[in-house]
Amino acid sequence: MRKKEAFQRYKKIKFFFAADAGKVRDKEIAVVSLTQKNDSEVITLPTGQKSLLIGAGKTRKINSRTLIILSRTVISLAKQNNIKKLALNFMDFAFPHLKLKSSAIAEMLAVNFEMANFEFVQYKTSPAKGWNFVREVTIISKDSAVKKAVGKGQTIGEEVNNTRVLANSPGGVMTPKVLAQKAKEAGRKYNFKVRVLGLKEIQKMKMGGVLAVAGGSREEPKFIIIEYMSGGKEKPVVLVGKGVTFDSGGLNLKPGESMQGMHTDMSGGAAVISALTLAARLKLKKNIVGLVPAVENMPSGSSYRPGDIVETMSGKTIEVLNTDAEGRVILSDALTYAVRYNPKLVVDIATLTGAAMIALGQRASAVFTKDLKLENLIRELGEQSGDYVWPLPLWDEYEEDIKGTFGDITNTGRNRYGGAITAAIFLYQFAKEYPWVHIDIAPRTTAVEGELLAKGACGAPVRLLIKLLEQA
Ligand code: BES
Ligand code: MN
Ligand code: ZN
Repeated sequence: MRKKEAFQRYKKIKFFFAADAGKVRDKEIAVVSLTQKNDSEVITLPTGQKSLLIGAGKTRKINSRTLIILSRTVISLAKQNNIKKLALNFMDFAFPHLKLKSSAIAEMLAVNFEMANFEFVQYKTSPAKGWNFVREVTIISKDSAVKKAVGKGQTIGEEVNNTRVLANSPGGVMTPKVLAQKAKEAGRKYNFKVRVLGLKEIQKMKMGGVLAVAGGSREEPKFIIIEYMSGGKEKPVVLVGKGVTFDSGGLNLKPGESMQGMHTDMSGGAAVISALTLAARLKLKKNIVGLVPAVENMPSGSSYRPGDIVETMSGKTIEVLNTDAEGRVILSDALTYAVRYNPKLVVDIATLTGAAMIALGQRASAVFTKDLKLENLIRELGEQSGDYVWPLPLWDEYEEDIKGTFGDITNTGRNRYGGAITAAIFLYQFAKEYPWVHIDIAPRTTAVEGELLAKGACGAPVRLLIKLLEQA
């Protein structure tokens, strides 16, 4: 029997602040300095103190994107060298040519330190000497705005990592029921309302899409409703997240290796839960609603079938051509449910299509909207936050591609071309009553090499969402 202590979770960094470098003479604390070289290294100073020389390259080439990677390099190099305590001079990172406020840089540093330090180790036996997480970071700065922004950044980083924990958790663990419990726990801890509809209530609501996809699984569907209302009489922003806790494809079973990683198919739902948690933790004066239809897509005698015609909550019927295009089927009901909030904006977040990955690679989520202003805002916030997005068209012409023969609309296009777009135009059929943005995060389901994040989920697009919620 393995002892429980053998497992250990990631713990957040302890930040300290010092007025000047003289305060950090502790031998255990490694000093960070930036160099104009391209490579980074660790050296030992004559005093015995370690120093992390971070290759930042030519100063004029530094931009907000490279600064993110630079800040992660600090943590990544420390971990590789088993250095647990760091000190850095804030001014070294405050490049004037970027024309960023120090609070923006401080926030970015803290977010990315947390993200780079995180690893999903809770199912791995601890090494004898423990994990090599960075424990303490001392920031040399007298600016109280810096201190405050570091605190905020750390909270954001923590919730990004929490999204990663939810997404990385195995499908057999992170079932619809458990995902709903996690939302409830967060609501109790940070004081916001979470209501969970079970099978009976979902039936009563006539959410035919959710019921169809959940049919094949022994896990009951849950419809998670989160309400954070601190914005007085303002109309709310509604976030909708795809919560497929495991996507086997259903009767159109995914072949070979393409089923691997499908426990992360609730990443959109996880991001919505974390974004609302963040809004509460940061005490935003806004009204925000989160909706997460949570189901498992499995093959069995009770599965929905190709050829089935599903009546959704909206009354529109879906002709099922492929049971593996399940995300849009459950989201149809959530988008309909959103209407009751009379929202000023609805944003849905979903690991919706492999086609979005084919189109964009793994470095940007696909964004779809009819509203050019919103599109530009989201691209801009994507740049600022590091959750990059890129637009694809949502033209009415594409509606032709999902016209049903025996139902109103089909859940796949006529052919394999433009699969991310046909999925988006499908969702649009249920989102015509309010301003709407769809973000297909399938490209960002997992971190890629070079971005200095641990393998597995990367927590997209929580950083973008919190910036959007602050502004919307
Ligand atoms: N969850 C998948 C999309 C996905 C694929 C996310 C790879 C992350 C990585 C989605 O439910 C799906 O299976 N989509 C199908 C749609 C097709 C059947 C029209 C796809 O993309 O192949
Ligand atoms: Mn699928
Ligand atoms: Zn899916």
